[in-house]
Amino acid sequence: MGKKTAKIKKVVLAYSGGLDTSVMIYWLKKKYKCQVIAFTGGVGYGKDLESVRRRALKAGASKVYAEDLREEFVCDYVFPALKADAIYEGKYVLATALSRPLIAKKLVDVAKKEKADAVAHGCTGKGNDQVRFEVSINAKNPELKVLAPLRNWELKTRLEEVEYARKNRIPITVNKTQLYSIDSNLWGVSIECGALEDPWAQPPEDAYRITVSPEKAPAKAEVLEVSFKNGIPVGINGRAYKPVELIEKLNKSGGSHGVGRADLVENRLVGIKSREIYESPAAVILHTCHRELQNLTLDRDTLHYKELIAVKYAELIYNGLWDSPLKEAFDGFINKTQEYVTGTVRIKLYKGSCIVTGRKSPYSLYDKGLATYDAGDSFSHESAEGFIRLWGLPLKVRAAVMKKVKGKRK
Ligand code: ARG
Repeated sequence: MGKKTAKIKKVVLAYSGGLDTSVMIYWLKKKYKCQVIAFTGGVGYGKDLESVRRRALKAGASKVYAEDLREEFVCDYVFPALKADAIYEGKYVLATALSRPLIAKKLVDVAKKEKADAVAHGCTGKGNDQVRFEVSINAKNPELKVLAPLRNWELKTRLEEVEYARKNRIPITVNKTQLYSIDSNLWGVSIECGALEDPWAQPPEDAYRITVSPEKAPAKAEVLEVSFKNGIPVGINGRAYKPVELIEKLNKSGGSHGVGRADLVENRLVGIKSREIYESPAAVILHTCHRELQNLTLDRDTLHYKELIAVKYAELIYNGLWDSPLKEAFDGFINKTQEYVTGTVRIKLYKGSCIVTGRKSPYSLYDKGLATYDAGDSFSHESAEGFIRLWGLPLKVRAAVMKKVKGKRK
């Protein structure tokens, strides 16, 4: 213990403003006799960075960095995942997972600027986030020490933390009615714990934060036209939007129609199955539109190959490997495929559903002459005959051989 105490003079802590990390400022100072610098990154809805700053100082931080990271989050993390069609286990749009490498990068930057010898985070020892933070931090700076007090400090329950805070006069705001563990950002809200720990239990309505229940959604549908340029969403209903505003607008519209809810038992990297619910209206709308536009503009082989990569890409994000060379190599492929993913998709939001009703693009590969069943058909029907003969040849040959072999056996 004495060893550690001697070594660490300055720590940069990923500070959320909640109970764990507020207590952690005091605990770190006491344990290591070090300075604690708090870092807060705003990736969600107008998080009140000023009040977080005040709270960190009151809890004993010697300095606070509170930065609005929304634009960087959307442009450098969310959009690459959207272009990749990255969705984990068929349902999770990776909102929490995508924010971790960005926060890790900022922690490393602040640590360098402040000449700190360690960074710290408030993740538990059971989740994915500890892995994502630590892998990303060390991929950026292999020398930096990472502390995870929640994994090994003596405070075993929330109640003990509250007690510790009271004894040491650490200002905290504890909400006793806090039933769930929630992580939220522009790309989605992740909700776990409490009543959700029973995978059979229907999620209580009070668990949701940004969507109404489909039953309570308006009886009138809302139609939106979402435009993309090179795989990136740039406008809604003919109006140009900046990245952050575009996502905010779609969260609002989608949320008001009950779009974007998901309920799943997912496989954590650490081997645990966990039940989690998600709300991600904008992400669901954009993924739906993006895939549809690709259906129109990508050739079959590229499209199908890209689907294989999407699964792997989502796993890399989920498993904390955002900074891996494999992910970087995939980006080269994915960006190339997005060259002509430009155009507009029309969708209808209605009582929890997001249904595509139209798509168009200057690079559309759809050929009406080839597809039509009416007059003007340009497809070569005679060629189909020869094509089928060769296409099915291996199966036909095999069937003939089998018939002969089996006939002999009798
Ligand atoms: N299970 C998700 C993930 O690993 C979200 C975890 C977020 N934490 C929470 N408090 N809900 O990415």
